[in-house]
Amino acid sequence: MRDQILVIDEGTTSTRAMLFGPDGQCRHTAQQQLTQHYPEPGRVEHDAAEIWQRTLAVAHEVVAEAGGAEAIAAIGITNQRETIVFWSRRTGEPLAPAIVWQDRRTAATCRALKEQGYEPAVQTKTGLVLDPYFSGSKIGWAMAHWPQLREAGDDLAIGTIDSWLIWKLTANDERGGLHITDATNASRTALMAIGSGHWDDGLIELFGAPRKALPEIVDCAGRFGETTLFGAPIPICGIAGDQQAATIGQSCLQVGETKATFGTGAFVLTQAGPTPPTSRHRLLSTIAWQLDGRRSYALEGSVFVAGSLIQWLRDTLGLIGTAAETEALARSVTDNGGTYLVPALSGLGAPWWEPDARGSISGLSFSTTRAHIVRAALEAMAHQAHDLEAAFAADGINWNCVRIDGGMVANNWMAQDMADMLGIPVERPRFAETTALGAAMLAGVGSGLFADLAAAGVMRGAVETFTPAIDADARAARLAGWQKAVASVVTLAA
Ligand code: G3P
Repeated sequence: MRDQILVIDEGTTSTRAMLFGPDGQCRHTAQQQLTQHYPEPGRVEHDAAEIWQRTLAVAHEVVAEAGGAEAIAAIGITNQRETIVFWSRRTGEPLAPAIVWQDRRTAATCRALKEQGYEPAVQTKTGLVLDPYFSGSKIGWAMAHWPQLREAGDDLAIGTIDSWLIWKLTANDERGGLHITDATNASRTALMAIGSGHWDDGLIELFGAPRKALPEIVDCAGRFGETTLFGAPIPICGIAGDQQAATIGQSCLQVGETKATFGTGAFVLTQAGPTPPTSRHRLLSTIAWQLDGRRSYALEGSVFVAGSLIQWLRDTLGLIGTAAETEALARSVTDNGGTYLVPALSGLGAPWWEPDARGSISGLSFSTTRAHIVRAALEAMAHQAHDLEAAFAADGINWNCVRIDGGMVANNWMAQDMADMLGIPVERPRFAETTALGAAMLAGVGSGLFADLAAAGVMRGAVETFTPAIDADARAARLAGWQKAVASVVTLAA
């Protein structure tokens, strides 16, 4: 029976294909790591050709596991957002490196636009702030610095990773490659007016993006062409940026429901309903999904460094051998020993938005051990989440529970610490890969397996709850230490 869903989950550090049954069971996963290119401090690039080749390889493995393309009802795509790809429509090959969301090369441009007074207008239209994080300024930089893009003229196609993968998947479609993006990914480019659901000519001009190279904006569920690369045709039926997909995978469908995903970065989204929310405290207003042309919105707090910090402790500093060790190390000491780690390794995101901030480890003494530093790194996750909790509250949104997910939350110590620092229950689904699950739900809706997202909610499994257990004074002391550490990083950058 044709009821399985193939999810392509293209993240910042790895690309995965996963096979889901209609009951939400994940039947197979294939994964490959992606090369990170750091050509200069503050610059992060990907090779879009590598992303495609590795994505195709993992998808082939999963299709074979499913028993062939005939067993697959639909494909769901979810992806690292904001990262921007430039390619030739004629050859289907990249024309330049992909500029990754973490890349800070446009910090000066964004600062200049801010000084010229553009931020309020940009914020009103896009829900975003002026920060190098978003694709618009990256596109403008690429057009100004990479002549081959200007020379390509009408042959140039520009899109986020979803667009790139869809172009490649549908290259054999009789219409040629489809050039589309879903509304959630489009909402992260800073080129879309999120209230209208369309590209905005004023923003396109402000950032210097070529209008004709941009994709068509579509819903998150539907029938978006087919791929014939796996034998029988498979329709592409679901598309969403990874954080929006996780919001769906966590069934945050009612206003106020909140999820926090700890992947490469940490992203907290609270469901806000059919009207774009306005933040007065440096949070983002973003599209949670678009179905049948109707949009639902979310308020978002974006933290740039989460799992990538643990990877850095392991691969660059050699402080740990595996990420899993961090739990035992954190438990091996009674507290952080006065050590605080501010993980501003690629600037600070919400609520600080300080692209020039750099990380710090403070409070070191001769009694500081490796365990204290590792514990401080894990504690930084809850500290950053706490800063977002305060910003959301200042915007009038009080969380009463947060649903956590992503690779890091397998760490029980961290999950408990999150509940302790936030002072509210934290729910963790037994199946923590909710980004992929959300893409499967969208593909299930788009292919007609489910009537709507609420019906697709049957795919979400059981959860476990962590409740706050820390002493109030200990909590206050921890947070005071963190506020001091983060303030000094922000002051140094200013
Ligand atoms: O906005 C960036 C975000 O989409 C990256 O997600 O999963 O790679 O941490 P992830």
